[in-house]
Amino acid sequence: MSDVTALLGTDHPIVCAPMAGVAGGRLAHAVSAAGGFGMIGARGSSSPEWIAEQAALAGAGGAPFGIGLMAWVPQLQEQLDAVTALAGLSRPKLVSISFGDLVEPVGRVHEVGMLAACQVGNAADLEQAIEARADIIVARGGEGGGHGRDEVATDEMLAMALAATERPVLAAGGIATGDDVARALAAGAAGVWCGTPFLTCVEADNTPAARAAITTATATRYARAHDVAQDLAWPREFGGRAVATPFVERWAGDEDAMTAEAKAEHAAGRERGDTDYTPLYAGTGVTHLTAETDAASVVRALVDRI
Ligand SMILES: Cc1cc2nc3c(=O)[nH]c(=O)nc-3n(C[C@H](O)[C@H](O)[C@H](O)COP(=O)(O)O)c2cc1C
Repeated sequence: MSDVTALLGTDHPIVCAPMAGVAGGRLAHAVSAAGGFGMIGARGSSSPEWIAEQAALAGAGGAPFGIGLMAWVPQLQEQLDAVTALAGLSRPKLVSISFGDLVEPVGRVHEVGMLAACQVGNAADLEQAIEARADIIVARGGEGGGHGRDEVATDEMLAMALAATERPVLAAGGIATGDDVARALAAGAAGVWCGTPFLTCVEADNTPAARAAITTATATRYARAHDVAQDLAWPREFGGRAVATPFVERWAGDEDAMTAEAKAEHAAGRERGDTDYTPLYAGTGVTHLTAETDAASVVRALVDRI
């Protein structure tokens, strides 16, 4: 057992990343039931009631699980109040705090005896996560799906983190196969933190149409296009890697010039469920996803070469 399986109470050093809109209590529970470690991804707008409901689903029967919060959102303190108050089977073992100031929120997690993880995407993030005394450091490279930085590749970020701390370091970003997992462990990672491989699981909260679109995706693009189209207040340095639809390709790098017409086109497309406009966040590993699947099958495939 690596440090991280003992710390998290799992069989395998596989964490299913928190993914807002995709990873709710059902997916987290299914991953943990399969011997991995499932996480719930809260949106900035997720209410304390939603957090409590999803935590109850995830922890049913005593399965270990975690919850991921975003440090920059105005609702962070309210969400931390909700998470730190969870008790009994609904109590998460791990809370991740990423994308913003880490020290104060990690301190709040530690005050109630929960473990904290932080995703880091460059040297400054890493320094802050160490200063915050995060129990687990997630070295997240630019290949990763969803929001984060696109500055340092996963292998390099992992090496930087391993050189800087004795704490368990998980590798994240573009890890999609059993071979990828074996390589990350051989490079010194205590485990992996994967989002994209779980995007087509039936237990996920995304729609069957989104899952179908993901199985045919051939490329991703790092951009702020979906955020700008929806007027979301993500800090500029945290863009998002998503399936490279024509809309994303058109506006990637040119987001500041996005017109009201383009925003209206995006809103109308989302409204009618057109997956060319749905924010299909995914990492470079998306090309390995070819069919709908389930959490137990994904965990099995990821541990295949360990
Ligand atoms: C659809 C999607 C949603 C995500 N939402 C969150 C989130 O809510 N909070 C968070 O900390 N990270 C989020 N992430 C980033 C993941 O935590 C993780 O860094 C990423 O999935 C790792 O790279 P991979 O997708 O290549 O496995 C999201 C990723 C994806 C793909």
